[in-house]
Amino acid sequence: MTPNWPVVELAGVSKTYGAVAALADAELVVERGELLGIVGPSGSGKSTLLNIMGTLARPTAGTVRIDGHAVAELSDRELSALRAQSIGFVFQSFHLAPGVPALDSVADGLLYSGRSRGERRGLAERALRRVGLGHRLHNEPHQLSGGEKQRVAIARAVLGDPPLLLADEPTGALDSKSGAVVMELLHELHRAGTTVVVITHDRDIAASLPREVRLKDGRVEHDSATGTYATRTTATATATATGDRVRRGVGV
Ligand SMILES: Nc1ncnc2c1ncn2[C@@H]1O[C@H](COP(=O)(O)OP(=O)(O)OP(=O)(O)O)[C@@H](O)[C@H]1O
Ligand SMILES: [Mg+2]
Repeated sequence: MTPNWPVVELAGVSKTYGAVAALADAELVVERGELLGIVGPSGSGKSTLLNIMGTLARPTAGTVRIDGHAVAELSDRELSALRAQSIGFVFQSFHLAPGVPALDSVADGLLYSGRSRGERRGLAERALRRVGLGHRLHNEPHQLSGGEKQRVAIARAVLGDPPLLLADEPTGALDSKSGAVVMELLHELHRAGTTVVVITHDRDIAASLPREVRLKDGRVEHDSATGTYATRTTATATATATGDRVRRGVGV
């Protein structure tokens, strides 16, 4: 049975680094099965937001719930388990170890899952076939194109079928054609039920996504799901604008 609480719930989340407010009172609810884009100028807090959603960083203030769990109440061990079971990550720079064939790169994601080596490799092969790389199982990163490397990274991220996939500029290092293949893959995963959050600088990509959240100076400046400003202080003002899905350009 699918639980009915949101996959992600951020309330009044702030993150400061010394004098820098990377995030200031950010509010965001992501429902199960959504596909949303996070856009905004460089330094606006997009990666910080994604890292907090992924429990890779803890907020300075505010509450974070992932898949119904209040992150602040979890021990490091429980947090690692939540991350392993519920969240897949994809980064602009692929994060693939040099010299390691694709099959092993993906299978290693299950090292601590208690599964046998054979099982891990079987599941990895299936995941690589799912991203269209059945013919590149034994290629090392330097024998793969950028787009293929990103597809290996996506196969690894979705291996355990996490309900939430977080992608930080997954097409940022790719040419537009490889980028389109990677985006199509994210759409496919979304259609299969995964909740996908993707940071992008690309206006066309942002325009192709059902929901767009725009950050500016660490705040949620615009959320197409609620129509306009989505910070807590102005939340009531959004009610009248619900349904307004007019796109006003993407801040880059
Ligand atoms: N670990 C850190 N230590 C100090 N400051 C940081 C750290 N991480 C982020 N910041 C600062 O927080 C702000 C937001 O950074 P963040 O990486 O979230 O921006 P971004 O929107 O992802 O930018 P980009 O589009 O360039 O990736 C920036 O001013 C950045 O310099
Ligand atoms: Mg970033």
